[in-house]
Amino acid sequence: MRIRYLPETLINQIAAGEVIERPAAAVKELVENAIDAGASKIEIHIREGGKTAIIVSDDGSGMSREELAAALDRHATSKLPGDDLLNIAHLGFRGEALASIAAVARVKIQTREKEGDAWEITAEGGKKGEPSPSSHPKGTQIEVRDLFYATPARLKFMKTERAEFMAVKDMVTRLAMAFPDISFQLTHNDKASINLPAAKNTQGRLAAILGREFGDNSMQIDAARKSIQLSGYAGLPTLHRGTMQYQYLFVNGRPVKDRLLNGCVRAAYADVLHRDRHPMVALFLDLPATEVDVNVHPAKAEVRFRDAALVRSLIISALKHALHEGGFKASSSVSTQALSSMRPANGGPALPLHRGASPAVPSQYAYGNLAEATHQSYAPQNMAQMDITPSARAEEIPQTQTEHYPLGSARAQLHENYIVAQTQDGLVVVDQHAAHERLVYERFKAQMAENGVEKQGLLTPEIVELEESQQQNLLSFRDELAKLGLEIEPFGSGAIAVQSIPALLSDKADIQRLVQDLADEILDQGETQKLEERLNEILSTMACHGSVRSGRRMNAEEMNALLRQMEETPLSGQCNHGRPTYIELKLSDIEKLFGRR
Ligand SMILES: Nc1ncnc2c1ncn2[C@@H]1O[C@H](COP(=O)(O)OP(=O)(O)OP(=O)(O)O)[C@@H](O)[C@H]1O
Ligand SMILES: [Mg+2]
Repeated sequence: MRIRYLPETLINQIAAGEVIERPAAAVKELVENAIDAGASKIEIHIREGGKTAIIVSDDGSGMSREELAAALDRHATSKLPGDDLLNIAHLGFRGEALASIAAVARVKIQTREKEGDAWEITAEGGKKGEPSPSSHPKGTQIEVRDLFYATPARLKFMKTERAEFMAVKDMVTRLAMAFPDISFQLTHNDKASINLPAAKNTQGRLAAILGREFGDNSMQIDAARKSIQLSGYAGLPTLHRGTMQYQYLFVNGRPVKDRLLNGCVRAAYADVLHRDRHPMVALFLDLPATEVDVNVHPAKAEVRFRDAALVRSLIISALKHALHEGGFKASSSVSTQALSSMRPANGGPALPLHRGASPAVPSQYAYGNLAEATHQSYAPQNMAQMDITPSARAEEIPQTQTEHYPLGSARAQLHENYIVAQTQDGLVVVDQHAAHERLVYERFKAQMAENGVEKQGLLTPEIVELEESQQQNLLSFRDELAKLGLEIEPFGSGAIAVQSIPALLSDKADIQRLVQDLADEILDQGETQKLEERLNEILSTMACHGSVRSGRRMNAEEMNALLRQMEETPLSGQCNHGRPTYIELKLSDIEKLFGRR
């Protein structure tokens, strides 16, 4: 075999593989070009998730005949006048998006400059024709048909029409947030999906996209360090979602999906949100162009910062500060803080809890209780004003000879959620909600293995409003969900009627929230996961919603029964989200606490 130079078309197809990996990527490139051309109005029409047609029209600058002839060539760009990769002022700069798209699809461009004639050009599988006269208003329209027809291998990787459409919609949403003064329209198979008139400012655009819920449940972020600025909105911890999809991050106006930035958000919320839950944020980072390199990722989705540590600390501290400010201190007081503050009242040495305590010491706030906790966050500061209705219930509990069991014998239920049990050499504190969640989940799995999850019909079906795409997603899982005891039916456009729920769920289960979470989850997983894993995740979500919440009183018998069940149930040391279900304190640690040792 000899080394040979590859033909131009093949080179372009290989390069296209990196830049244009799915219809949403093509849409992104075309819309970015329209934005760079100074458009005030951008219309996007797609068919079959963008697989068969993507048409983007703008009222921007348009192109002359010469420019049009060059636009489809690789490395032809009007956006790097100074050959300076450190000073990038446009969304585009590589001059390869159109060449890449044209290498794998059928493309037609029609364009007209303000003072000039209209021209059009076509290209198919990388071979372009000559510009010819056309009739077109000022601006540009680019049609992309049969994406990947020229690269059948890539064509096979297309997901369902729905999934591709959702990715396109997400992409357009992100661009629309970054450019509030441009009007955006998106239709899918002729059906309107996004229709955003020009907004006055970012706030107006965010309100139009994210709606009132986000507006009412978010905190404004405004922080700066050196030449770096951070602005935008961050959702309250209670507004968590099952996916990271609702984290909108922008660097110098460019939507990014950057791991460093997502990691910062996660770190900032780690104390207040479980790691399977994701906050909603819309954050705009602005810094001098020379401080950030956008030329590291073929689709420009990731960026590199010159001073990543500075960016990181700015974001984390700004978010943490906001979380602690708005009166949410109570909701974010993590259990670790509580534990480490457990020290003698006279200011003696702090207890080295990490040594004696069980490895299950929680490091994260229990999100399951967050809603309740947040509502109590305005609790009076002053002890004297406090309502002294006892919330601890430590009445005499009959002694049972069960101390020899690993989780001991239940002695009290505190704050209607914590079971305190005495063991032979210490004490155990059980989070009854977390524990129950694990038990329900294991029972679900056992029922599944036998003959499907037992269901319980609802007297009146519960109607749950969803986004249309969520509704479709959920309905495509109808059969699987029915096997899991959750029977659903379409109810008009965008809503679902729940006919039955798994019998193991308590009748107080929040069906609305459950269905919403399931819809998010299914969307997140796409078609990538194995069916069994997917079903387990659904069961886990249902278990969480169906478990005894904190706040339910239990008698001694029930508590001891729970402890015994925990001992018998696999993995009962953690709830389905990886949070511990109990912590154990050895007597020796308690004695140290009191200086007895
Ligand atoms: N909608 C449009 N209106 C006006 N000019 C356009 C439009 N789309 C593309 N062009 C012209 O075609 C050129 C090539 O576009 P292309 O997207 O391939 O590269 P780019 O935007 O310069 O860089 P990148 O590959 O990073 O996107 C652009 O530099 C621009 O001059
Ligand atoms: Mg471009």
